[in-house]
Amino acid sequence: AAPAAPDFKACGDPQLPADVPSTVCCPPQYSSPIDFELPSRTSLRVRPAAQFVDDTYIAKYKKALGIMRSLPPEDPRSFTQQANIHCAYCNGAYKQVGFPDLKLQVHNSWLFFPFHRWYLYFYERILGSLIDDPDFSIPYWNWDNPKDPGAGSVENVPHTPVHLWTGDKRQPHRENMGIFYAAGRDPLFYAHHANVDRMWNIWKTVPGGKRRDFTKPDWLEASFLFYDENKNLVQVKVKDSVDSKKLGLKNKPKRRRPKGKKV
Ligand code: C2O
Repeated sequence: AAPAAPDFKACGDPQLPADVPSTVCCPPQYSSPIDFELPSRTSLRVRPAAQFVDDTYIAKYKKALGIMRSLPPEDPRSFTQQANIHCAYCNGAYKQVGFPDLKLQVHNSWLFFPFHRWYLYFYERILGSLIDDPDFSIPYWNWDNPKDPGAGSVENVPHTPVHLWTGDKRQPHRENMGIFYAAGRDPLFYAHHANVDRMWNIWKTVPGGKRRDFTKPDWLEASFLFYDENKNLVQVKVKDSVDSKKLGLKNKPKRRRPKGKKV
């Protein structure tokens, strides 16, 4: 059966390494979920490559993040709650509904791409709504576009090593980026995952036609819960995430640096 959306009311303590101070990362529980509806917008949000954004963009991004950080921690749109989402879904705070012995975990499985796409989808919309800019899009950290020729960094440095590399070596578990429960506390997480999100689309275009999304209902019907920009609790399904255009977003193609310009 497809993994059902977690029961927020049954959220428990996350499973953390023994030396991590006790951490609660359950969401605020105050409404029953509504079903997701695809956005009706016709224009797409365009996610820029981080290395090419201008000062106006950076100012906007800072402002949005600043407001998000200043929201009271019990507001589901607050940065604290946004970071907690990664902790709760990834460190076993939820059981799989109907399977009391099974913890919900969205990594190491087919749920990896869709869960993270949904996570960014709501995070981005919340940021946009906090600055009244419905077109606001998060940047993607373009780690697959290294300066020198040779093996691309998708090959050398895919998703997980990037997490470990950007975690703080002096912390016991390379917090924040290097461990699930804390990764969402670093705003870099979302730029990193915006690139993972972009990789999912690129992966489908690899010649040979072998890279196709799964068609099994176990995957397509799997669901998650997120709070949206209006604090509504929304139930989403994997099937609505497979085409990012339907979610109203795309990535700006990377472009070459102007000749002679050093970075
Ligand atoms: Cu949910 Cu990059 O991890």
